Amino acid sequence: MNVLVIGRGGREHALAWKLKQDGHHVFVAPGNDFMEGMTCASIHETDVEALAHFAEENEIEWTIVGPESSLMAGVVDTFRDKGLNIFGPTKAAALLEGSKAFAKEVMMEAGIPTAAYEAFTDAASALAYIEKLGAPLVVKADGLAAGKGVTVAFTVEEAEAAVRDIFTTDKFGQQSQVVIEEFLDGEEFSLMAFVSGERVIPMITSQDHKRAYDGDGGPNTGGMGAYSPMPHLSKDVYEEAVETVLKPLAQTMVKRGTPFEGFLYAGLILTANGPKVIEFNARFGDPETEVILPNLKSPLLDVIEAVVRQESYSVDWIDGYTMGVVIAAEGYPDRPITGQVLSGFESLPKDVLVFHAGTTKKGDQVVGSGGRLLVVTATKPTLLEAKTAVYAAISQLDLPETFHRTDIGSRAFTQII
Ligand code: AMP
Ligand code: GLY
Repeated sequence: MNVLVIGRGGREHALAWKLKQDGHHVFVAPGNDFMEGMTCASIHETDVEALAHFAEENEIEWTIVGPESSLMAGVVDTFRDKGLNIFGPTKAAALLEGSKAFAKEVMMEAGIPTAAYEAFTDAASALAYIEKLGAPLVVKADGLAAGKGVTVAFTVEEAEAAVRDIFTTDKFGQQSQVVIEEFLDGEEFSLMAFVSGERVIPMITSQDHKRAYDGDGGPNTGGMGAYSPMPHLSKDVYEEAVETVLKPLAQTMVKRGTPFEGFLYAGLILTANGPKVIEFNARFGDPETEVILPNLKSPLLDVIEAVVRQESYSVDWIDGYTMGVVIAAEGYPDRPITGQVLSGFESLPKDVLVFHAGTTKKGDQVVGSGGRLLVVTATKPTLLEAKTAVYAAISQLDLPETFHRTDIGSRAFTQII
């Protein structure tokens, strides 16, 4: 089939890689310089008319959307109007990610366990609420801030400073609303699913590492590394999350007249009272995609076509683990340095995959051009072997002016050993 992937990062590189493995002719818009064997089209991911035109011209049979910016620009609505096959939520359904306040409203309606919260449109009421609640608590800028609009505050002063930041600076764009929520204590995990209307086909679990530095220190980032599946999460907890979060969400979106179709991402914390939601994303997670897709044995489009037809599908996963470590530019997330030359990729073993995100090709050189530069992954029968292989691969590379976490997966090891 002719398949189009929209986006340019590591997640889209992994999607395109999987679709190519499955034997398709893969187009990517705009793609990046490292998508070998795929056809890149330089169309911006939010230029929805041009994307639809491209899909028509090139007889694209399926379009898969990577980034939230395309969804919020209405790419799915436009493709559907033109009768083009696309897997992703409409603009109305993507608001689950686009607005935290909206997501909370839907969760309340669906009875989905989540942190208690209040939304405020002015700083004074938000500050009064913080006084009343006390720390710890979490302050979130409403709208898209790429995982960076969240402050986990352990003191009232930190929470107050975060609120002032949101309303008085334009650090997070024009924000008119802030969500203040209860701090949830427990193991964090990601659970994603293929969803169409009420039909939910869950994927295996994965765990991201959001903080910049080892030991979960430093600022929140878009994600510094991940692995899948989580060996220390029980089947019972997994099933509870599917039954109490994913399915009621899908049903409620249908009831509200804005059915969800696409990859649904639930960010969860396993509290003493069971799994609770901290966020929904209306798309595949990044870097979770890079560690989940190497584990997926079933052809991706077979699962997508089954869910869209409202059929059940027994997804085939490998009996093993993938770990992915993000190589970030020095200075990320605040002021990433660009222009570093990365090398040594030719000598990596076959089962190590490198997905590119913030890099460009200059002649034969791989040059840094963003914050998160690449994700190095390894797939092995055990998580420990995957970890050993991925860090061995990284040590073979020459990665000046970059940093990465050296403790990806450590929570799994401390809990099984
Ligand atoms: P978010 O962008 O909502 O995923 O938040 C970024 C990170 O902040 C999450 O990955 C969590 O580690 C943390 N976080 C967000 N909300 C909460 C909460 N209610 N309790 C504890 N940690 C949270
Ligand atoms: N890894 C979290 C996200 O994609 O937002």
